[in-house]
Amino acid sequence: MCGIVGYIGRRKAAGIVIEGLKRLEYRGYDSFGVVTTNDSLHISKKSGRISDGGSGAAGLPGTAGIGHTRWATHGIPNDQNAHPHLDCTGKIAVVHNGIIENYAELRRDLTARGHTFSSDTDTEVIAHLVEEQYAGDLAAAVRAILPLLQGSYALLVIAEGDDRIIAARMASPLVIGVGDREFFCASDVTPLIDHTRRVIYLEDGDCAVLSCSEYTINHDGMAVDRPVEEVDWDIQDARKGGFSHFMQKEIFEQPQVFYNTIHAVRESPDALAHLVGSRMSIMIVACGSSYHAALLCKYLIEVYCGIPVRVEIGSEFKYYTPPLNVPVIGITQSGETADTLAALKMAQAWGCPTIAITNVVGSSVTRIADATIYTRAGPEISVAATKSFIAQLAAALQIAGSLSDDPGLEEELDRVNVMIEDTLTVPIDDAVALCTQAHSIFFIGRGFYYPVALEGALKMKEISYIHAEGYAAGELKHGPFALLSPDTPVVALAMPGKTYPVMISNIKEIKARGAPVIGIGVAGDMELPEIADIFIPLSPSHEVAGIAMVSVILQRLAYHVADALGCDIDKPRNLAKSVTVE
Ligand code: G6P
Repeated sequence: MCGIVGYIGRRKAAGIVIEGLKRLEYRGYDSFGVVTTNDSLHISKKSGRISDGGSGAAGLPGTAGIGHTRWATHGIPNDQNAHPHLDCTGKIAVVHNGIIENYAELRRDLTARGHTFSSDTDTEVIAHLVEEQYAGDLAAAVRAILPLLQGSYALLVIAEGDDRIIAARMASPLVIGVGDREFFCASDVTPLIDHTRRVIYLEDGDCAVLSCSEYTINHDGMAVDRPVEEVDWDIQDARKGGFSHFMQKEIFEQPQVFYNTIHAVRESPDALAHLVGSRMSIMIVACGSSYHAALLCKYLIEVYCGIPVRVEIGSEFKYYTPPLNVPVIGITQSGETADTLAALKMAQAWGCPTIAITNVVGSSVTRIADATIYTRAGPEISVAATKSFIAQLAAALQIAGSLSDDPGLEEELDRVNVMIEDTLTVPIDDAVALCTQAHSIFFIGRGFYYPVALEGALKMKEISYIHAEGYAAGELKHGPFALLSPDTPVVALAMPGKTYPVMISNIKEIKARGAPVIGIGVAGDMELPEIADIFIPLSPSHEVAGIAMVSVILQRLAYHVADALGCDIDKPRNLAKSVTVE
């Protein structure tokens, strides 16, 4: 994820754009850039955080400008790869949030037609494509090239000598702020409400043209009206995008994060080749939530690809695993977890090919591993992992999809982001009320839902401080049954599939021992609502979507229980986001 901001009006643009970008740093902060226009373009861009070094851009002249704060996807974070990107003439400038999936092909064609590229980004193709179409009308040129772009984008374009900003959106958020003879645009309303409360949420396929005096919006070649809405947040609310905590905000970013990640993984052919090359077996090492994602990866690759996968906690691998000769994957959101790094170094010393799955471009793990697959969660501020876990799940699903002989699996993945969105508003109040009273909570599942149960329990204990344990449902009777009581709720993950009947039997056994059950299943299930005390129905879906949906429900459950108990959700006691010691 990245953040973009634009301004056009009667005031100096640079300062407004810079302050706006600072508000969007939660979306990315490895580099930034601003371009303004009066008679010509004035550009300033560099690696680092805008909050540390935006002053160079502050002096740029002009009353129209666009800017970007970056979270690297294509190309390392450096000055050249920072946005804005220019065409060959240096007269057209673009900032972009999203991923242009067909950029490699577009870049090849543009290069063959004589264009010269100065960055490794996917975004730069947009500037060169607009250059080819530009004949004095920037809006027409942008509209002409949008159909060539596959993937996701929120983009802003300006050109020398054209007093307008062109804004377009597809599967990435973009909002216009309506002022008094001035207009703003940004990835969300956070930068806008310093200036105006009146906003327009663009829809996918919209292309807007902003000038000092008016705006127009075009969709499918037709002018359209979009409602101007009033935002009633104060500035404090807005820093978290209207959410009470970063964790909640990050939970709501997950549809976009899932989408971005599956597309990014599809573009990692080299890393995937390491895996495809040895279909004998795979080893995965990770810690914390990343370990749970690794367990999901194991189930997915074993079920969909028939390749045996072994998973080990980083700190255990290092001391106890005998030398191996298989590809070793390290999953680490931060790319800095000491135990995971040590495990990968050890695997390398044995001669194993190593692959990193990480969220941070340029992190230590990317320098150690032979190949890297990036998740596209953007920066995660909350200590408790949510969107980075969903991004790791997306990567695991896409790897399984790429290695599997079943072409239908990848198609299913394209629908998962919508199903996650659907899950964000499923009512869970009764379950929250029950858990808030609990002394201890068990989370149980089978198959894919066993790692999901582990992660659900981890979320609950780390942010609500209620003791919680995840169990393979079949194991409950081998000890934990002794702890069941009316104040020990059991969250049972009973989604459709081959383990559904045996989950129902397990739930009946639990009920017979007096523990209340929160059953998570699908709408239309006739049996689960009968036996569970509280039933949370999710929309029926393919099982790959089900894994993501249940994970999201459990994140929300933990979040709302912790909120009801007044816990410090984003900074739980005793915990750190990145654990760089053994
Ligand atoms: C810490 C964080 C967890 C994270 C774990 C592994 O414990 O609080 O949320 O899952 O480290 O971190 P990594 O960056 O390697 O995924």
